[in-house]
Amino acid sequence: MTDETVTHREWSLAELAAAYAYPGPTAGGRPVPWLRANMVSTLDGAAQHEGRSQPISSAADMRIFGTLRALADVVIVGAETVRQEVYRPARARAEFAEQRKAAGQGPAPAIAVVSGRLDLDFSLPLFTSPLVPTLVLTGAAAPADRVAAAEKAGARVVIAGDGVGVEPARAVRALGDLGYTRLLTEGGPRLLGQLVAAGVLDELCLTVSPMLTAGDAQRIAGGPSVAVPQRFVLASLLEEEGFLFTRYQRS
Ligand SMILES: NC(=O)c1ccc[n+]([C@@H]2O[C@H](COP(=O)([O-])OP(=O)(O)OC[C@H]3O[C@@H](n4cnc5c(N)ncnc54)[C@H](OP(=O)(O)O)[C@@H]3O)[C@@H](O)[C@H]2O)c1
Repeated sequence: MTDETVTHREWSLAELAAAYAYPGPTAGGRPVPWLRANMVSTLDGAAQHEGRSQPISSAADMRIFGTLRALADVVIVGAETVRQEVYRPARARAEFAEQRKAAGQGPAPAIAVVSGRLDLDFSLPLFTSPLVPTLVLTGAAAPADRVAAAEKAGARVVIAGDGVGVEPARAVRALGDLGYTRLLTEGGPRLLGQLVAAGVLDELCLTVSPMLTAGDAQRIAGGPSVAVPQRFVLASLLEEEGFLFTRYQRS
């Protein structure tokens, strides 16, 4: 025990942005893709309640969520999360405008929807009126009429797989080739599980929500398990009102 006084105060958005900055370019000056995931889980491992993550989130979680978006070039998200959470385009935030400009970024990150079937409502604002065109990541065998519908709505279709599905490593490469290197994924669990299994995840920002829900909700990452558990190291830990904001990086 020490008698040090611990000061509790709310971090400013600028402080959060500095704390969560993406790694810089390599020694050669070349930016390399860095894939970060941001997820929230209850104490008993639920990644959603009644189909949404909002009931297990908090105001501080949303501040970090917004900050991580503001730092990213692109937000990669699975089609089911887009459908269930009715995803909207990312907004331009005045608080981050200067920083994004200095980093050579557009006013808001692009949203990249991962989908094989492309069973998406292309009349939604996500596709028709984003600040920067929404991307659709899919495979070469995706239904041609749905690819055409996506493009007609204004989305940029990026092929990152030979079959119907997206191959995670190829998606990361394809985004890097388009100049997107500060990558953020917001899941959902089925997508995140594939990113983990493919070994392309560099960082996990996991909010531990001080709630218990029991039930049969998904965990933050699903699908087949990896052969050997992947070890991550704790990079930072913040707390507000019992919520823990962890940040783990690949060791
Ligand atoms: N706790 C959290 O932080 C958090 C975060 C996000 C979401 N969630 C919750 O998670 C739930 C949804 O997650 P989910 O795991 O069911 O779905 P998901 O991962 O969001 O989306 C799954 C869908 O993404 C597409 N997809 C995934 N991998 C693909 C691949 N390799 N190639 C092509 N398409 C691929 C497929 O779309 P098609 O069917 O269109 O082919 C698939 O049906 C929601 O309840 C949401 O609230 C929680």
